[in-house]
Amino acid sequence: MVSSDHLGPGEEGQIMVTVTTEGKKGPVTKTVQIRSNDPGKPLVILKLKANVLDPFHKGVHEAKEIFRTPCSRCHVEKGLGKSGAFLYQADCLLCHRRGKSAVSISEMKRLTREELEEIIKYGKPDTMMPGFSFEIGGPLTERQINSLVRYIKGR
Ligand code: HEC
Ligand code: HEC
Repeated sequence: MVSSDHLGPGEEGQIMVTVTTEGKKGPVTKTVQIRSNDPGKPLVILKLKANVLDPFHKGVHEAKEIFRTPCSRCHVEKGLGKSGAFLYQADCLLCHRRGKSAVSISEMKRLTREELEEIIKYGKPDTMMPGFSFEIGGPLTERQINSLVRYIKGR
């Protein structure tokens, strides 16, 4: 956003730039190109640099914390009302993917349906895997958990 699109020689104006940091971590660069009919410098490139700090993922947390604010905004809300693959993507993939601490779906698949159900419902002690069952304060209904077991075994 520019305060004025007409500036006489030597005049000043302001440019407002918004950098969205949601979902970003570490160094972020945004470039802005300013074109004008200035004969000496028709193009000026501004580089804005920022370092996005992640306030959520440092320090030690208890697994169940992801169900409460502020964590729930990313770890629970996106899965509300979803099931199967969509629910897996929203609630599970954050931790269960290559490069992260938890196993990927291809390894999870070797567990039996009963084992999967048990772990998804009640969690895995001494790990960051919380119990997702509604019965014990988690966000997922019996039906949603069954849909996940079916999705995982069906892959
Ligand atoms: C702004 C969204 C957001 C919020 C808020 C958030 N998380 Fe996350 N979390 C993510 C994403 C995205 C990932 C996937 C890992 C990544 O991409 O770095 C993740 C991954 C994780 C992981 C797995 C990390 C790993 O390397 O295996 C844990 C544990 C976790 N979050 C716990 C928490 C806790 C506890 C809170 C609250 C204090 C929280 N998160 C708040 C988005 C969020
Ligand atoms: C905050 C991170 C986090 C989230 C979110 C999460 N898990 Fe986990 N999960 C873990 C960790 C850590 C382990 C223990 C390490 C391991 O076994 O991979 C684990 C273990 C498991 C296991 C046992 C794997 C095995 O081989 O013993 C299953 C099954 C599982 N999770 C399924 C899920 C499902 C389904 C979801 C989504 C509803 C989910 N997890 C969400 C972190 C998470």
